[in-house]
Amino acid sequence: MLAGGGADLLATLPMADGKTLFHLSDIHFGYEDNHALAWVRQEIAARQPDAVAVTGDLTMRARPREFAAAEKWLHALSVPVTVEPGNHDLPGYHLPLRYLNPLARFESFRELVERRIELPGLALVPLNTNVPAQPRLNWSKGWITDRALADCLRQIDALPQGVRAIVTAHHPLREAGTHGTALTRNGSRALDQLARRNVLAVLSGHVHDAFDIMEQTPHGPVRMIGAGTLSRRIRSTPPSFNELHWNGEQLNVRVRNLEGKANAEMMVDEVPEDATPPDRDTADA
Ligand SMILES: [Fe+2]
Ligand SMILES: [Fe+2]
Repeated sequence: MLAGGGADLLATLPMADGKTLFHLSDIHFGYEDNHALAWVRQEIAARQPDAVAVTGDLTMRARPREFAAAEKWLHALSVPVTVEPGNHDLPGYHLPLRYLNPLARFESFRELVERRIELPGLALVPLNTNVPAQPRLNWSKGWITDRALADCLRQIDALPQGVRAIVTAHHPLREAGTHGTALTRNGSRALDQLARRNVLAVLSGHVHDAFDIMEQTPHGPVRMIGAGTLSRRIRSTPPSFNELHWNGEQLNVRVRNLEGKANAEMMVDEVPEDATPPDRDTADA
C-alpha cells in the first residue's frame, strides 16, 4: 500500500446506509501526478465509493494522447463515474473543432461526460460551465449559458421526491470580483436557482486548492465544495481529492492527501479571483 493510503481508513468508513462519493479534479493528464493517481486508484478499488465525480481539466492541452491516458485510467475504475469538461479539455489550437464539437476528444468515453448519476436518495447532476469562446480576454474562466443552466435545472426538477441533488461543475459558481474580472459569468444566477431548489452542494475544480464555502444568495445559502488537483500543477496545497459522506442529514467532506494533512491545512478560505497556479508555466488553471 502506498504511504498514507490507509492510515485513516477506520476514521473514514462510511456510515451504515450512507453514501460515499469521491470528488476528484484537475488531473491534467499530460502533467499528472502519477504517485497520487496510483494512490487514488487504490483507494477507489479498496473503498468502492458509490460514485466518483471528476470535475474537469482531465487533460493539460486537450491532446489526443492525454485523452487516451484519461480514458485508460477512468475505464479501469469499477464504480460509477461522471466527468465534467474543464477549460483545458477544449481543443485550443484546433478552432473549427473547438467551435463545432468542443467535446469531440472525449469521444471514447463520451458516456461518462455530463452524466447524471442517481443513487437512492441522492443524485449527481451536471452543469457545464465552459463555452468555446468568450467576449473577454481570459477564456479560462467559466461561463454558464442559458441552455446549460436550463439543462441542469430540468434534471434537478425531474428527480423523484426526496432525492437531494449535488451539482457537478468545473468552475466555482462565484461571480464575485471587481474590475470586470468576474470568475464565472452567470454564476450568481445559477446559484440563486440552485438555492431555490435546496441543492446539497455544488462540486467544482479549477482552483487547484480545496474549499468548503457557504455562498449566500437572495434565496438562501448554497454550499460550494472545491476539490484540489491530482496534477503536478499545485497551487498552495499538495495533491488531494475530496471524500464526501452523506448520511441522509449531513454532508461531510474530508480532503484526502498523501501527507496526512488535516482539512484546515488543505482548504483555502475563499475562491481566489486568479485561479492560475503560481510559479508554473503560462497556462491557465
Ligand atoms: Fe480549469
Ligand atoms: Fe486545472
